[in-house]
Order: sequence, then structure tokens, then C-alpha cells
Amino acid sequence: MRKTVVIVGASQGIGAELVSLLANDEDFLVIALARTIEQNNKWSKLENVLVHNVDLNSGTLKSDLEVTLSNYDKIDFLINNAGLLVNKPFLELTKTEMVQSYQVNILGVMESLQVMIPKMIQTGGHIVNISSMGAFQGSVKFAGLSTYASSKAALTNLTEMLAEEFKNSLLKFNCLCLGAVQTEMLSKAFPGYIAPVSPKEMAEYIADFTLNQWKWMNGKIIPVSLSTP
Ligand SMILES: NC(=O)c1ccc[n+]([C@@H]2O[C@H](COP(=O)([O-])OP(=O)(O)OC[C@H]3O[C@@H](n4cnc5c(N)ncnc54)[C@H](OP(=O)(O)O)[C@@H]3O)[C@@H](O)[C@H]2O)c1
Repeated sequence: MRKTVVIVGASQGIGAELVSLLANDEDFLVIALARTIEQNNKWSKLENVLVHNVDLNSGTLKSDLEVTLSNYDKIDFLINNAGLLVNKPFLELTKTEMVQSYQVNILGVMESLQVMIPKMIQTGGHIVNISSMGAFQGSVKFAGLSTYASSKAALTNLTEMLAEEFKNSLLKFNCLCLGAVQTEMLSKAFPGYIAPVSPKEMAEYIADFTLNQWKWMNGKIIPVSLSTP
């Protein structure tokens, strides 16, 4: 029977590569979510890819997701890949930038999980949260990324907390802290820097991790990094 994979933050960068990769395998039904994905649906000819516009920053996120996912009773894999990066000196950050960063990078993930965990808990599943080396304790830190990295650090902690809270269920929660990958987000954080890893290469790693590694670990925070600029 087909496995259902939900990818949040699937319109570009690493998330779009994840969709393209899994779309090649008819054993998977891929549900791709992002704010702008319906407008430029690259997978419209594929029967096993469904795209839906979802905004993690919306005040109606939970009810939007309930409606969007109402036809899907069972989710096997969830990749929380969306991210918002603001690159600005700490003293200049506006309240809106701080609130939006926390809404997209952690609060929206929590709300999404409240909708999706009930669709995973009966049969089991793997939830993979995509965080950053900037959120990994003891890693090199970079000025200007305080609201991004601290909100992603909350996501790493949430992973451990949910692994504990659901330890007697069939669910597994793990978190990948990525190093530099050549995407739009990286260019925003480090203009001119060339990363040693492409979005496709990182997507291959994340897909393999998501589909296979749940057998061996739960509540783990894993650095996946060749370099941080
Ligand atoms: N690239 C790197 O070097 C690097 C390093 C460490 C961690 N990461 C993490 O890896 C993940 C993927 O990053 P990327 O480099 O591929 O970034 P990206 O190219 O900027 O893509 C980000 C994705 O998140 C979605 N997104 C942003 N705001 C959203 C919202 N409000 N609601 C729903 N979706 C939203 C975007 O889609 P829409 O704009 O259509 O909504 C897009 O699909 C992120 O979580 C990022 O923090 C990346």
C-alpha cells in the first residue's frame, strides 16, 4: 500500500527537490505544502503529487490544514522543512520580524503537528524536523541570525520533547540540523558564499533518513553539515 509523505515548505530549494525525488517513486503519495506552491506547480502532470497552498504564518493555519488534509486519514512521513530567515542586527529587528520568524519556524510547526499527529498515531510514522547548524548547541554562530537561529533551536528542543511525550506510541521524531546548502535562503544569510552541497544532494540525504532511519532512532538532534560559512 502507498505511503503518504507530507512535505511542508515544498515550493523551492531543498523541499522542492524532496518532492521531485519522491515523485519518481509510485510507492509514495506526496502532499506538498507551501504558501506559493499552487501557482507554480511543477508536478501537475504527476498523479502521485498533490500540492496545496498553506501559510504557516496564517492566523487560521490549523483550520486551513484541517480542510486541506481532510481527505487524507493516514500520514506515514512528515518533513517539516519550511523556514523563514531574517538576516538583521539584533537591535534593529522589528517585532513583526521576530513574531513571523517564531510563527513559521516553531509555532506553525507545533500547530501543524497538532493537526497531523492524529493522522499518524494509529499506524505510526516518522516526523523529521529540519533545523539548522545555527541552532545546534556549541556550533559556530553568525551575527544577524539571532531570531532565525533561536527559533530553529526551539524546533530542535521540541523534537526531544515530543519524542518523550509520545515514546509509548508508534511515532518517531528526529531533527536534522543542516549546514550550508546552495539555496535562496543561504544566499540571504551569506551573500556570495558558495556551499559545497546542492539542494538535490541534501534532499537525497533527507529522503533516505526520513524513510529508513526511523527504525534506529527517536528524539535525536543530528548535525548534517560539511560546512557552515
Ligand atoms: N540552505 C541552507 O544552507 C540551510 C541551512 C540550514 C538549515 N536550512 C533549513 O532547510 C530548510 C529548507 O531551506 P531552503 O534553503 O531550501 O530554503 P528556501 O529555498 O528559502 O525554501 C524555504 C521553503 O519554506 C517555505 N516557506 C517559507 N515560509 C513559509 C510559510 N509562511 N508557510 C509555508 N511555507 C513557507 C517556502 O515556500 P513559500 O515561500 O512558497 O511559502 C519554501 O518552500 C529550512 O527549514 C531552512 O531553515 C537550510
